Amino acid sequence: MSKKLVAGNWKLNGSLQANDQLLDASVAVPGVDMAVCVPFPYLAQAQSRLVGVALGAQNVSEYDAGAYTGEVSATMLADFGCRYVIVGHSERRALFGEDDAMVGRKALAAQRKGIVPIVCVGESLDERKAGLAMSVVGRQLAAVLEVAGADAVGRMVLAYEPVWAIGTGLSATPAQVGEVHAGLRAWLNAHGVAASGVRILYGGSVKPDNATELFAVPDVDGGLIGGASLVADDFLAICRAAVA
Ligand code: 13P
Repeated sequence: MSKKLVAGNWKLNGSLQANDQLLDASVAVPGVDMAVCVPFPYLAQAQSRLVGVALGAQNVSEYDAGAYTGEVSATMLADFGCRYVIVGHSERRALFGEDDAMVGRKALAAQRKGIVPIVCVGESLDERKAGLAMSVVGRQLAAVLEVAGADAVGRMVLAYEPVWAIGTGLSATPAQVGEVHAGLRAWLNAHGVAASGVRILYGGSVKPDNATELFAVPDVDGGLIGGASLVADDFLAICRAAVA
């Protein structure tokens, strides 16, 4: 993959006033693709202020229209110029009951409207301790493959986010990341997906001081950044670390 992709995930953070500063400071870094995934109410604000940085959302409905109170469709996201949407983040899986198949349906719904899904996979600490990391991410991916098919998966972005590394300050080590990323690429190839075209991001406590070593790991095509994406200087430092 030539250029890496670094995407910020603001999660449930922001205000109109605070966002202005953060968005204005989030200037494009040459040599890396950048995206910012903001809460739904701030899509218009972000769309109007971002220059050379792609806009993304953090969730999307599997449905396109109808009696689904509280849902936001891919068509609506496309209306605001979203290029990416995060689907299957572990927080949505654990706290909001999203299962593997639903994640697949959401990814497909996004793709149908021309939005690139960033599909998150990752194991819990107990699963890692039990040696199940690869089988968990394989199960999560298999559901997406079953719903969407190999061609569609080949046009998605994947994000490996070990649950135990998210928001904990405890990043996975480069060796752990390398093992799973290589495993994911092999899994894709073994299941008929053209894996060389799939960007696989790493997410989980990426900070300016560990970004360079994480991005140097083979098969790491960028990062999905939570907490550090809320501090413009840190986000930009991480983006600069991703420049080839
Ligand atoms: P942190 O960078 O805060 O660990 O969050 C990672 C994440 O969940 C990005 O989606």
